[in-house]
Amino acid sequence: MVFSRWLLLMVLQFLHGATGTMVKLNNGGFEDIVIAINPAVAEDNKIVDNIKDMIKEASAYLFSATEQRFYFKSVKVVIPLTWAAKPEYDRVTIESYDKADVIVAKPYLKYGDDPYTLQYGGCGEQGRYIHFTPNFLTNDSLHAVYGSRGRVFVHEWAHLRWGVFDEYNNDAPFYTTGIKQAEATRCSANVSGQYIFPISPGKTRKCKVESRTQLYEAGCQFIPDKTQTAQASIMYLQSFSSVSMCNINLKL
Ligand SMILES: *[C@@H]1O[C@H](CO)[C@@H](O)[C@H](O)[C@H]1NC(C)=O
Ligand SMILES: *[C@@H]1O[C@H](CO)[C@@H](O)[C@H](O)[C@H]1NC(C)=O
Repeated sequence: MVFSRWLLLMVLQFLHGATGTMVKLNNGGFEDIVIAINPAVAEDNKIVDNIKDMIKEASAYLFSATEQRFYFKSVKVVIPLTWAAKPEYDRVTIESYDKADVIVAKPYLKYGDDPYTLQYGGCGEQGRYIHFTPNFLTNDSLHAVYGSRGRVFVHEWAHLRWGVFDEYNNDAPFYTTGIKQAEATRCSANVSGQYIFPISPGKTRKCKVESRTQLYEAGCQFIPDKTQTAQASIMYLQSFSSVSMCNINLKL
């Protein structure tokens, strides 16, 4: 069964300079994910409780959606020193807010309560951190907007860890890669698949590349292969959820 190990930590100091994730992948289990609460966030134990519930749900969801390849094994929650100490809190060692994979902080104006992942690399590169607002973590009425927190976490984790992007790109489902060559817009481009044109129910043929546009003809569908590399397999998560994963146009 999928389980997660918890460590609650209080921040003694903020280390500046050194940044970078400490997450390790061990037999499919992501270990030492650091979730840090910004010291400016008002004390609220519901935040910590709901982080635990979120990760538990996310772990089970990731596990089933990746056909038992991945789950979340251990998480450290870094709690501000300004909050009341509790017996179950350990003193922090090397974890810090600066190094966190996930931060809980007030919203940036631009995003409101939208969960997001800061990505400045390209497709396939790891992101910097996931940002959740306290309201996102404690206000259950936001489920209706974003879906369950566990699923949102997995969605953001795919951005962070695998560098997938949201590409709601129904306007441009294909791009050209050369003369008479085109590809489906997707991330990562390592997702393999077939280009299929439906003729009648149950009947298909291969798509043609139009010479005028150098793109696949309208109505062409990209069907990802059932067997994918581990990293690409996360793409299938979208079919389990109303929260679409990487490329909604894979479903076309
Ligand atoms: C995609 O495949 C190439 C070549 O096989 C590999 O070098 C690259 O790391 C892969 N990228 C991802 C995101 O899996
Ligand atoms: C929960 O979020 C909704 C939508 O942003 C907001 O209208 C409501 O006031 C929030 N409730 C609390 C208790 O903060």
